[in-house]
Amino acid sequence: MTSIPDARENQSHDLLNLTLKIWRQSSTDERGRFQTYKLSGISTHMSFLEMLDVLNEQLVSQGEEPVAFDHDCREGICGSCGMMINGQAHGPDKETTACQLHMRKFGNGDTIVIEPWRASAFPVLRDLVVDRSALDRIIESGGYVSVNTGNARDANNLPVPKQNADLAMEAAACIGCGACVAACKNASAMLFTSAKVSQMALLPQGHPERDRRVLNMVAQMDEEGFGACTNTNQCQAACPAGIQVTNIHRMNREYLRASLCSSEMPPA
Ligand code: SF4
Ligand code: FES
Repeated sequence: MTSIPDARENQSHDLLNLTLKIWRQSSTDERGRFQTYKLSGISTHMSFLEMLDVLNEQLVSQGEEPVAFDHDCREGICGSCGMMINGQAHGPDKETTACQLHMRKFGNGDTIVIEPWRASAFPVLRDLVVDRSALDRIIESGGYVSVNTGNARDANNLPVPKQNADLAMEAAACIGCGACVAACKNASAMLFTSAKVSQMALLPQGHPERDRRVLNMVAQMDEEGFGACTNTNQCQAACPAGIQVTNIHRMNREYLRASLCSSEMPPA
């Protein structure tokens, strides 16, 4: 005789009891520390950020400060939700942002350690929120096309080799989350910067400012205090957008070409 599964038993398999060790830091100038929280009845169907929402509702109801964390789209698009989860940028899933991570990746009774990005160029503002404006300043130094390009052209007006269009599209997938920096032992921003350099170096619209762009963006990257590339590919492994280190190779070639052949000079 086949036994009918107990609905409540199945349901209990979908619920997790967790121990969370979360970095709490009230401001940039204060010392931070890990704080432990117990959380029960977390559905495996929740996203990681929904689990943090449940924790925060409990903290608020107990009159405690909720855990500050960045989030916006919750769809893997905006790049704001970065955090280290058990030592991995954005958690255990490949090419997945923290907001797309599901609690079914964890087991009942697990301990989860949650920290902000660790990089001197990303000072902690509060708890899991870091200041990533250094990435904005790298973009401001040259990551754009400064001419007014007007309306969209007809498709065949400006021939672009299919391979270049594909590579530019792949580089443009970078969401500026900073996981590459957090995963690198040198806190290098080479993967981010190279994606932003590549997306325009590969297209004809980006060519007039190509030399100035790479020289200025690399100079700004260094000025912000990011380290040099370690060649360990940790950035690529951590990147939720699948940005490849071949972009770093391209940026190095662009930089060398601009340094040797261009009338543009690297900023002093
Ligand atoms: S290269 Fe990847 S990890 Fe780095 S900022 Fe862009 S999307 Fe995030
Ligand atoms: S909240 Fe936008 S990428 Fe996670």
